[in-house]
Amino acid sequence: MWNYPLFQTQRYIGVDIDKTSLDLGRKTYPRAEAVRVPMEQATHVKGDYLLCVQVFNNVHFDVKRTIDAVGALCAMVNPKGTLIFNIGKDSKKYEEDIDALLSSKFGTVEKIRYGSVYSTRQRPMIVSLIFALAMLKFTSLRGIGGYQKVYYFCTNRRS
Ligand SMILES: C[S@@+](CC[C@H](N)C(=O)[O-])C[C@H]1O[C@@H](n2cnc3c(N)ncnc32)[C@H](O)[C@@H]1O
Repeated sequence: MWNYPLFQTQRYIGVDIDKTSLDLGRKTYPRAEAVRVPMEQATHVKGDYLLCVQVFNNVHFDVKRTIDAVGALCAMVNPKGTLIFNIGKDSKKYEEDIDALLSSKFGTVEKIRYGSVYSTRQRPMIVSLIFALAMLKFTSLRGIGGYQKVYYFCTNRRS
């Protein structure tokens, strides 16, 4: 739900298993819709643009469901649509299978590897923001902690 301000869409649908997050999101952004279901079972939710950020490395996500989840994300994207998501280091062992799945479903698949500077402990939000801006400008900083995470940018969903 927190990405709502980045989009100017007719509909914005937040999918999450956590009721508290969805309720808070709906309260903050009343035009947003909420669907409480594991993303692996959310194939009935459809969109032209699907963003799934910081979920695969969430403490509540079962990494053994990685391929099911990526398959479901693909199914949720309308033809010609776009899918953006990231995986953490625990899901990386499925990377080859993810790549094969994505290339069968999308016209183009781009990957960006990046580091895990925040994987070990929590820091104040302002510190994260400063790091994020620094990494945006100085791309070599993205490798701090090893290139253990991957961002996927997939466009032109095949029919
Ligand atoms: C760090 S938050 C990401 C928030 C979201 N990207 C945003 O910007 O608002 C991770 C969220 O993933 C959710 N989550 C974890 N496993 C999930 C699953 N299998 N299906 C749906 N949501 C899941 C958690 O409940 C948590 O709210």
